[in-house]
Amino acid sequence: EPTAAFVSGLPKAELHVHLEGTLEPDLKLALATRNGVDIGQSTVEEVRASYAFDSLASFLAVYYPAMDVLVTEQDFYDLATAYFRRAAADGVRHVEAFFDPQAHTTRGVPFETVISGLHRAAADAVGYGLSADLILCFLRDASAESAHETLLAALPYRDLLVGVGLDSDERGNPPAKFAEVFQLARDAGLKLTMHCDIDQVGSIENIRQVLGEVRVDRIDHGTNILEDPALVALVRERRIGLTCCPVSNSFVTADMKAREIVELLGLGVLVTLNSDDPAYFGAYVADTYTAFARQAGVGRDELVQLARNSFEASWLSASERAGYL
Ligand code: HPA
Ligand code: ZN
Repeated sequence: EPTAAFVSGLPKAELHVHLEGTLEPDLKLALATRNGVDIGQSTVEEVRASYAFDSLASFLAVYYPAMDVLVTEQDFYDLATAYFRRAAADGVRHVEAFFDPQAHTTRGVPFETVISGLHRAAADAVGYGLSADLILCFLRDASAESAHETLLAALPYRDLLVGVGLDSDERGNPPAKFAEVFQLARDAGLKLTMHCDIDQVGSIENIRQVLGEVRVDRIDHGTNILEDPALVALVRERRIGLTCCPVSNSFVTADMKAREIVELLGLGVLVTLNSDDPAYFGAYVADTYTAFARQAGVGRDELVQLARNSFEASWLSASERAGYL
């Protein structure tokens, strides 16, 4: 089994992490105090006990209310900085991180407050050896109109974003619902990715939509693409990355999907390992690589390939990527 030193020494990119999912209990409490927000919890143990779930729905029911403590530009800066520093210590050199503006604007926090704090943290991360780009995620259980309004609010800050994504509850909210908004984002020069979560009814159909009418540049999760060999061949040929999150999967579906990830790796698909919501699932990137290696029974060679894949699947420029490959 690869050692912790080997795993953290491996240069890695993280392509699937929700910044709001990096809210550790101690920071949550500190922000609640700073902003005078009553969260009904007063100790780290109480907060940690509330971080309990066994499905995507039960996770989201804890995850969104926790964001009430995020109010000021400094709060968003502190949230992202804590994660970036932690990731850098894990050997992460480049991050493309999600944030959910609608989870904040619907509470009255201006888009500018959110993007300013996160961008300032990303700019400062260069000083400790990490490049960080931001991906605006739309909430798929909100309307297409709301996504459109959010994109319009974001366009003045377009240069602070690398792409757009789609997260939250997938059931009844297929990719095609957002095809127009994603086309507008592409026209603005943004990269596209969407969550195609595992074990959701009709999810292979959702993978078909993201590769067909939406034409994403990456897929978040997506291991069940194995159900359709023609789609597997397509992502392999187009070099479309799959951002897999084995520890997250183990909470939401009681299965890391390690067998599927190994199979996709063997088929030459650009699969990557990521943490998703590390404060909630208890594993940052290095622990995710280690947990995956243990479950999958793989060694250094496979982890090296997965780390290389993370740079190849990134949205760094070709010359920046070449520096890591
Ligand atoms: N799936 C959907 N929405 C999310 C996730 C996820 O894994 N993490 C944070 N928001
Ligand atoms: Zn996710």
